[in-house]
Amino acid sequence: MKINENFLKVESSYLFSTVAKKQREYQQAHPDKEVIRLSIGDVTQPLAGAVIEAMHKAVDEMGSAETFRGYPPEYGYDFIIEAVRKNDYEARGIDIKADEIFLSDGAKSDCGNIGDIFSTDNKVAICDPVYPVYLDTTVMAGRSGDKGEDGLYKNVIYMPCLRENNFMPQLPEETPDIIYLCFPNNPIGVAASKDELTKWVNYALKNNCVILYDSAYEAFITDYSPKSIYEIDGAKKCAIEFRSFSKTAGFTGMRCGYTVVPHELCFYGTELNALWARRQATKFNGVSYITQRAAEAVYSEEGKKQTGEIIAYYQRNARAIYDGLTAAGFTCFGAVNSPYVWLEVPAGMTSWEFFDDLLSKCQVVGTPGSGFGKSGEGYLRLTAFGNYEKTLEAIDRIKRVYGK
Ligand code: MLT
Repeated sequence: MKINENFLKVESSYLFSTVAKKQREYQQAHPDKEVIRLSIGDVTQPLAGAVIEAMHKAVDEMGSAETFRGYPPEYGYDFIIEAVRKNDYEARGIDIKADEIFLSDGAKSDCGNIGDIFSTDNKVAICDPVYPVYLDTTVMAGRSGDKGEDGLYKNVIYMPCLRENNFMPQLPEETPDIIYLCFPNNPIGVAASKDELTKWVNYALKNNCVILYDSAYEAFITDYSPKSIYEIDGAKKCAIEFRSFSKTAGFTGMRCGYTVVPHELCFYGTELNALWARRQATKFNGVSYITQRAAEAVYSEEGKKQTGEIIAYYQRNARAIYDGLTAAGFTCFGAVNSPYVWLEVPAGMTSWEFFDDLLSKCQVVGTPGSGFGKSGEGYLRLTAFGNYEKTLEAIDRIKRVYGK
């Protein structure tokens, strides 16, 4: 028996597990302190009433022989696929067919699992800093090569997102096969304009690349930035899109998302849609009926109104963090189109040093920027998904200790 040795090349602990462990250890050592967690982007507000109502109804259906349901269709029930198609695409003038939408247990798994349909020889480009799943799964699949002394994997194309380029990745000099993009991006929290995305779509079309587009944070867009990559002409020929109900409707504990693989996305005569359909049919058994009814309710009139209010609640947190910390002398980014605030750590500290300092002096947990990649060094990410009062308390504590 041989293990998959690529797993030995990846960071031994997932970023958010390391952060959670540090928080637990601190809390055990200081049981009297109230720690405020603004680290992982996990929601705190209860599900919308319309969602709860739909689930109660679905539970009752499962309790009666006439309405009981067994295995769900592997790609999602028609009712939810139609709701997605109409509301997330048709309503924005985008023609996506029902069989191009694949319901799943969330964007995180799909972003990693999608690698199954591509050759391990493919070269992957990722932003730096980046949501760790894209890089970690690239390493696990054997596409990264070894890590060099500079801490970077030799076979990965890194696209630094730096302050001097407005945190936007630049088109890579070396041509990749696969490009992971996420907008509004995680961790920095900036959205891409239509022109910016058009540049990427044209580049992918010209160079025969596939874009893996994570749009998990689209609900937080407040300006004219595209919510879907398919708002760009030609994107159906070069992009797969991942969407999630986690941040849009507070489903982090429910698990539901979907992936769009257009039929036009075709390489050497093979539709990627067929490959993903085949992969999902074999390795995935669908989302529970109750969850699918819950997701459907997000698109009802009441559901839209209620989830909109929840998003507004988090947007208010994002503004409070951004304004409060800016007033305290921090340089902050993100927040406008995103639930994340990306702030520069005090001069002379590394991201992890500031993380530790913040935890011990303010009992506030953030996520160190360097955990998202080398170019994240010198930054810390705070999430707006916390409770409003606790968020204000965290800002006050930070102001008291670091305020200028
Ligand atoms: C994050 O904090 O970056 C996200 O919550 C992680 C995720 O969505 O898996």
